[in-house]
Amino acid sequence: MAKLKLITFGCQANEADSEKIAGVLAQEGFELTETAEEADLILINTCSIREKAEQKVYSLLGTFQKLKIQNPRMKIGLCGCLAQREGVRLKDRFPYLDLLAGPGAMIYRIPEMLRGAPAPPVLPRPQEPLPLYIRSPRPRRESPFKAWVSIMEGCNYLCTFCVVPYTRGPERSRPPEDILAEVEELLKQGYKELTLLGQTVNAYGKNLKPRTRFSDLLRAIDALVGRNMRVRFTSSHPRDLTPDLIEVMARLRSVCEHLHLPVQAGSDRVLARMRRLYTRQQYLEKVAMLRQTVPDIALSTDLIVGFPGESEEDFQETLSLLRQVRYDSIFAFKYSVRPLTPATTYPDQVSGEAKTERIHTVLQLQDEIALEKNRERVGKIEEVLIEGGPNPKMHSVATGRTRRNQLVHFSQESLVPGDTVSAVITEGYSHYLKAKIP
Ligand code: SAH
Ligand code: F3S
Repeated sequence: MAKLKLITFGCQANEADSEKIAGVLAQEGFELTETAEEADLILINTCSIREKAEQKVYSLLGTFQKLKIQNPRMKIGLCGCLAQREGVRLKDRFPYLDLLAGPGAMIYRIPEMLRGAPAPPVLPRPQEPLPLYIRSPRPRRESPFKAWVSIMEGCNYLCTFCVVPYTRGPERSRPPEDILAEVEELLKQGYKELTLLGQTVNAYGKNLKPRTRFSDLLRAIDALVGRNMRVRFTSSHPRDLTPDLIEVMARLRSVCEHLHLPVQAGSDRVLARMRRLYTRQQYLEKVAMLRQTVPDIALSTDLIVGFPGESEEDFQETLSLLRQVRYDSIFAFKYSVRPLTPATTYPDQVSGEAKTERIHTVLQLQDEIALEKNRERVGKIEEVLIEGGPNPKMHSVATGRTRRNQLVHFSQESLVPGDTVSAVITEGYSHYLKAKIP
């Protein structure tokens, strides 16, 4: 069998895409390998959201070029958002590249490209409709009990910092029948948890005829999986967090009590310049409605520090928002200048030192908040899906996640990955809990 070394950068959508790439190539006789030296094909699934991930890809390419010199039969390709954005220009810089493919539907064309179909002079815009998935090989999933399920591609928002709408194209939703067929298959295979994926997953269905709301899809999935599966979804845009969605989150047993709701900034001036289409107040009202309807729901968020023009006062508003919402966890990023995006041209860029200082401040505050919240959980009984085996560094014999998506370490019991257990929380730290079986 031919050997494929697949390296993935970036978001969950990319992890899901890599599983699709592995599925498509398994049909072509490729099996995955860990070692680049023995690979017949090396594919890097790239990310373009921040500059750092791009730099890593370029340095990896240098390393792999050396392997190719020793083994000229080896093929090297780039997929994903950086490949989409830069397109054939990459061939000028890296003439030894054998293959370029964007994210989304282009994945299914990789076999024909490998067989020598001429590379298109420019990569097609990522706009193909999604029903293609129906006839395509299923993803080759890494976990036997947790599955990503892509339900839409692209994004119709145009946040001024974000490159995703340019690399993944406009929003296209997958037909509900196709999604339900995949979920049914996963159920038969014994999967325990689904994460529905989309750039703005809760905007699902707007362009479908007849229109299907995201809450309708969740209801249909819940009817299918009942108590046998947990359902998560990410990422949600605050604008699309509608009362009907909040209602089904409260009512459906399968839907976990966790929401990732990226806020990006706490100041209205910055939110407007980011083009997020909500104010701080509107965001806080949604959070209040959510917490009222789904008691004890866990909240996480993404935020950016050092967006162009972010003053010290603006930054203080992000800190005050963190204190007000008290998230269970956050992902904080330093603003990164991105080609194609409007904010790149804004004249009032924030210095690197200020960004570094702000991100430290944000993370420190969040650690304090999470520590406090996690200590409050001690004594509570939570449903945990066991995900991993022993972790010697943490002195734990197993790890898992609660419905609220919190990481849990166990130190006494021997637990089997894929099992769902009822555990009592014994200790709380900033980034994880400890628990035991009562
Ligand atoms: N809706 C997408 C968001 C993709 S980008 C999703 O499914 O997650 C993920 C996060 O990266 C964003 O929420 C934002 O916080 C961050 N991000 C995007 N562009 C960025 C940039 N130019 N600089 C720094 N962080 C950025
Ligand atoms: Fe990016 Fe904003 Fe869409 S963060 S993915 S443009 S909602």
